[in-house]
Amino acid sequence: MNKLFIVTNLKSNKNENEAKIWLEGFKKIKEIEGSLLEKEIVVCPSFTELSLFKSFTLENNLPVKLGAQNVSPFDEGAYTGEVNAKQIRDYSDYVLIGHSERRNNFNESQDQLSQKVEVSLKYGLTPIFCVQGSGNKIPNGIKILAYEPLFAIGSGNPDTPQNADKVAKEYLSNSNDYHILYGGSVTSDNVSSFTKMENINGVLVGGAGLDFEEFIKIIENA
Ligand code: PGA
Repeated sequence: MNKLFIVTNLKSNKNENEAKIWLEGFKKIKEIEGSLLEKEIVVCPSFTELSLFKSFTLENNLPVKLGAQNVSPFDEGAYTGEVNAKQIRDYSDYVLIGHSERRNNFNESQDQLSQKVEVSLKYGLTPIFCVQGSGNKIPNGIKILAYEPLFAIGSGNPDTPQNADKVAKEYLSNSNDYHILYGGSVTSDNVSSFTKMENINGVLVGGAGLDFEEFIKIIENA
C-alpha cells in the first residue's frame, strides 16, 4: 500500500438525485485515469447511497473505491437501526472510524471504537481511523490513520503542513506500518502542501469533496 490516499467523506449530504448528479460529473475522472496509478481514491457516501455508488462506479468503470462513514460496533443481530460490517462489506472496502463528529455528537467511546475496528477487520473492511491530535490510542490492526485537528474541520483554517507532518511522524514512531492522512479544510489549492510532506500519505477531504469538480482538482493536484 504505497499509494497516496485521496479520500472524501460526503458526510450527511446528498439524496439520490444529488448523488446521481455528483457521479455523472465525477465520470470526468476517467480523463486523468493514466495519472492515478499511484493514487487510491476513496469516496464515502451515506449508507443510503452506497448501493447507487457501487453500481454506478462498476458500470462506468470508475477508478475509485468506496468507504462507509460508520459501522455498528456489533455483529449482525438484534440491534435495531444499526448497519453492520458484514452488510457494509457488500458495498465498500473502507470504513471511517473515530471521526470527531461521531466522537463528539454521538459520544463514541474508545471501547466502542475498538469494537468497531474489530468487527470491521473480521469482515475484511479496512478502517480509516481518525485521530484529533497526537497521543490518541490506536486500536490493534489499524493501518490507516487520519490526523484531523478539530480546529481545522470545516473551518477553512487548515493545520500547517509542518505540524501535520510532525504529528504523523510521532504516530509513525509507534509503528512504521501506518499510512497517515491529513484532514481538515483540504482544498485543491493546499492539498499538495500536505501530500508532499515526508510522513503524510494522503488526505481526508470533507466539504471540498461535495463539489465533484473540486474533488477532481484535489486528486489532480495531490
Ligand atoms: P473538511 O472536513 O474538509 O470540511 O474540513 C474534513 C473531515 O471532517 O473529514
